[in-house]
Amino acid sequence: MSKDRFIEIIPEIKDRLFYFDTIDSTNNYAKELARQGHRDSIVISGSQSAGKGRLGRSFTSPKDCGLYLSMLLPSPARFAIPATVLIGGCVSRALEGILSRRVEVKWVNDVILDFCKVGGILAEADSDAIIMGIGINVNTPQECFDSSMPHVSSLAIREGRQFSIPEVAAAIIGQVDQMTARLDDSAYLGDLLEHYRSRLVTLGREVKVCDSKGERIGRAVALLQDGSLEVDFGGNTEVLIFGDVSVRGIDRYI
Ligand code: BTN
Repeated sequence: MSKDRFIEIIPEIKDRLFYFDTIDSTNNYAKELARQGHRDSIVISGSQSAGKGRLGRSFTSPKDCGLYLSMLLPSPARFAIPATVLIGGCVSRALEGILSRRVEVKWVNDVILDFCKVGGILAEADSDAIIMGIGINVNTPQECFDSSMPHVSSLAIREGRQFSIPEVAAAIIGQVDQMTARLDDSAYLGDLLEHYRSRLVTLGREVKVCDSKGERIGRAVALLQDGSLEVDFGGNTEVLIFGDVSVRGIDRYI
């Protein structure tokens, strides 16, 4: 893969794109750009040596197998609905356009196909901007994933064919750009939140919640307007705000 290949498929991002063959983490670079005053830049790398996931986890990023993308988005103050939830909706819509089938999400930001994780989203904030990291396992073969993570997969494994990584990038960037251009359009944002809710595999399931209170079992009952998750712990309902919460199925990933 090369910068030219991305520009060929997505010419409109020519002046915003920072491309690397390899880098530690596209989010780290995008954060540096935010500190320097950049605003709508896009960072893509062919591989990452220290790809980051949520909660201090790592994100497997082998060369030219996946999409490792960070986008600088406007200040968190501009978002009536948390950006991480809206981006989940954008990624689902983009991938559904490519795969012509439902692409689900696990609260808050794992991208799910056939109950397997095929991508993740890591939102960070710095210098009054959001650094939105999106990782999609596009053509990654199973042997690249740690054997302790059998629930992790790729679009190619699930679909039995290879995909063009620049085309996956084009679809996602298109959806995200559309969303950032419509931050004041409450009807559009409401639809996007509704799309996210309709694809949320977590709802209605028994979940294991790991947070500062330890590990507890409950049932996810609702997604609230601000993107938080309502969980019923045997009659006591709590509202979970993403931050440091991990939500999983009881005896499997979902
Ligand atoms: C997760 O699964 O918890 C989130 C994974 C986010 C991975 C992407 S890849 C591009 C960007 N750079 C990173 O270091 N992480 C995000």
